[in-house]
Amino acid sequence: MTDSRALRQFLKMMTASGISHLPTVTLPKPAAAPGRQLANRLKGTDPAPRQAPVNKSGSRTRLMSPDRLAPSSAKQPEIMETTHALLKQTFHTAEQKAEGLSTLAEAVTACRRCTELADTRRQTVFGVGNADAEIMFIGEAPGADEDRQGEPFVGAAGILMDKIIAACGLKREEIYICNILRCRPPGNRNPHPQEAANCREFLEGQIRIVAPKFIICWGTVAAQNLLRETRPVGRLRGQFLQHGDAKVMCTYHPSYLLRNESAKKLVWEDMKFFMKKLGVDLG
Ligand code: URA
Repeated sequence: MTDSRALRQFLKMMTASGISHLPTVTLPKPAAAPGRQLANRLKGTDPAPRQAPVNKSGSRTRLMSPDRLAPSSAKQPEIMETTHALLKQTFHTAEQKAEGLSTLAEAVTACRRCTELADTRRQTVFGVGNADAEIMFIGEAPGADEDRQGEPFVGAAGILMDKIIAACGLKREEIYICNILRCRPPGNRNPHPQEAANCREFLEGQIRIVAPKFIICWGTVAAQNLLRETRPVGRLRGQFLQHGDAKVMCTYHPSYLLRNESAKKLVWEDMKFFMKKLGVDLG
C-alpha cells in the first residue's frame, strides 16, 4: 500500500471514529524535518508482508512494577561477554551500527535467560529498521505474528502503527523499532519484571548502537520499563522525558487503540506534539 493511500485510510478511519480536528493541509515530507534528512537516510528494505490482523488479549495494558535485577546465574555470562565487548566499541557510521546490531541480534538468538519464553518462542524478535535512525520506537513484546515472522509490529497493532507513521509523514524504514522483550510471552501476557530485567542489556545495547535522538514508548509497559517509572502512560504522555541522550515521548499502545477507539484522538495529539519537536507542524 502506498503511503498516501495508507494516510487517506488512516484519516478516514480517524474521522469515522469521531475525530474532527485532523489536518486538512498536505502533510509535510520527511525532508522538512530538521537535522539529518530523514527520507535520505533510509537504509532498510521494505517490511515483510503483513499477515491477517489479530487482536491482542485485553491483559496487555495491565500495569507492571519496576524491574528487579536478574540473578547473575541466569544471565548467561558468555552472552554478557559478547555484549560487553561489543559495547566497548564506538558506532559512528550507519554500516558500523548495522554490523553492531547484527552481532547483538546473533547473541540474542542464543539467549535462554527466561526459560519459559525460550521454551515457547519460535524465534527471537530483535528489532528492525534503520540502524542510524533518529527515531526509535519501543513496544512491549512480540505477539504471535511477530513470533512467526521474526519482526516487531507486523500484526494488527503493527498495521495501525504503520498508519500512524504514514499520517505523520514518516516511513517505517527510517525508524528503528524494537520491544522491551525479544521473546513472545505465552498468550501475550504482560512481561514479568524479571524478564524485562533479563532483556534490558539487549535493549540498552540497541539504544547505545542506534543512538536515536528521540524514542517513542508505546504503552505503559514500554514506558514504565524504559524509564523505570511507576506512573501509567496516561500520566507520562504530553511531555518529553530523558533516557540517556534521547528525548522520550510516551503514548498509548496501538493494541490499546484497537480496543479503545476514543484513545486514537489522544495518540494523534501526542504525534502532533512529537512531530512539532522535529519541526513538522501537523496542524
Ligand atoms: N506489540 C508490541 O508491543 N510489540 C510488537 O512487536 C507487537 C505488538
